[in-house]
Amino acid sequence: MLFTDVIQRKRDGSELNDEDIALFVNGLADESIAAEQVAALAMAIYLNSMNFDETSKLTIAMANSGTVLDWSTEELDGPVVDKHSTGGVGDKVSFLLAPIAAACGCYVPMISGRGLGHTGGTTDKAESIPGYNTAPDFATFKKVVKSAGCAIIGQTADLAPADRRLYAIRDVTATVASIPLITASILSKKIAAGLGALVMDVKSGNGAFMESFERSEALAHSIINTAARAGVATHALITDMNEILGTTAGNAVEIAESIRYLRNEQREHRLDEVVIALSAEMLVAGGIESDREVAKQKCDEAITSGKAAQIFGRMTAALGGPADIVENYDRYLPRAPVTRPVHAEGIVSAVDTFAVGNAIIELGGGRRTVGEKLDLSVGFTDVAAIGTRLDADRPLAVIHAATEADAEAAERNLLAACELSDEPPGARPVICGILEG
Ligand code: URA
Repeated sequence: MLFTDVIQRKRDGSELNDEDIALFVNGLADESIAAEQVAALAMAIYLNSMNFDETSKLTIAMANSGTVLDWSTEELDGPVVDKHSTGGVGDKVSFLLAPIAAACGCYVPMISGRGLGHTGGTTDKAESIPGYNTAPDFATFKKVVKSAGCAIIGQTADLAPADRRLYAIRDVTATVASIPLITASILSKKIAAGLGALVMDVKSGNGAFMESFERSEALAHSIINTAARAGVATHALITDMNEILGTTAGNAVEIAESIRYLRNEQREHRLDEVVIALSAEMLVAGGIESDREVAKQKCDEAITSGKAAQIFGRMTAALGGPADIVENYDRYLPRAPVTRPVHAEGIVSAVDTFAVGNAIIELGGGRRTVGEKLDLSVGFTDVAAIGTRLDADRPLAVIHAATEADAEAAERNLLAACELSDEPPGARPVICGILEG
């Protein structure tokens, strides 16, 4: 069968069968299908979608395109649980939640992704720590999960390689925001990681791939039901992404904020609410705790006691980064040569978070083409939350850029992305829903 037949069938709205999906996934993994054909099928799926059966088959075939990890021989004394986000801007939750959940008794083998579309990627952010190896061999990955309790890595050549290639092509072909493609992408990595349970952070809002609550809920159901078919118990929280989470967006700047959070020095309230709720849900999904409020308390104690920060330090050192990253992150993280505050007058009433994500790409912090090298030092810090009154002392944000010209462009983009008014906007919930499989 020719692969063009598969593209044509999906282009014309037909269901793909087992053979079509096998041809696609094998061709992705062994690169026998050209990138332009992959992009064409991704666009056909984006436009015509896939039913539950097709989505499940694609997910399981992609999970089996490489090694599937087995933790049952490791004699771990806690559940193997992970969290994955559907993608956001300024979303540094993974760096906080993995050590928090580990401090509470979970084992977290986290296979993260790179930046996708306008959203940032955990793998890229981790690489701003000098020496941190996001692609260790499996023996090292398992050893770090066992000894530190968590390991955040990227996709290796052997884990869900079909997703690795499809992900990179979707990133630059405007084919990301598809419920079946997001479902298959996320779950293929999670099934390959051999999880016992999964907690999903399904982002909803103008910085997410799903803008409306209804679409976010549909994505959450797609992930929960597909995961159930693959035998992975999954809980999902739908969380607000109508502005960045925390006060930073970029790569190294988000690692710095994550470390300040773990040191219990700076816990921006929206970020904190999402981190604590998701970490607590991991304890519930993993069977460590049945009461969500007690679980939240345990997660908070993991931070205030310093245990989560210690685990982050241990994980970083075990993956090749500096052993004193928690104490001395300023010494290690790359810094952009140009920093400038952006001033405006009024109260921040709304933010186009998609545009903020794209402004980071324009600064060089995200990719425009497959494989593009990133400038991990650029981005925004001190970002004012919606509801903040701006004046001469309180800027909208501080830009970190490679050149003055880049900083000027970022300033224009940021000002255009923010609405200011005289009145504070109404409150919005941060956690918009909890769903259990
Ligand atoms: N995260 C992923 O791993 N894949 C997607 O498609 C979206 C978010």
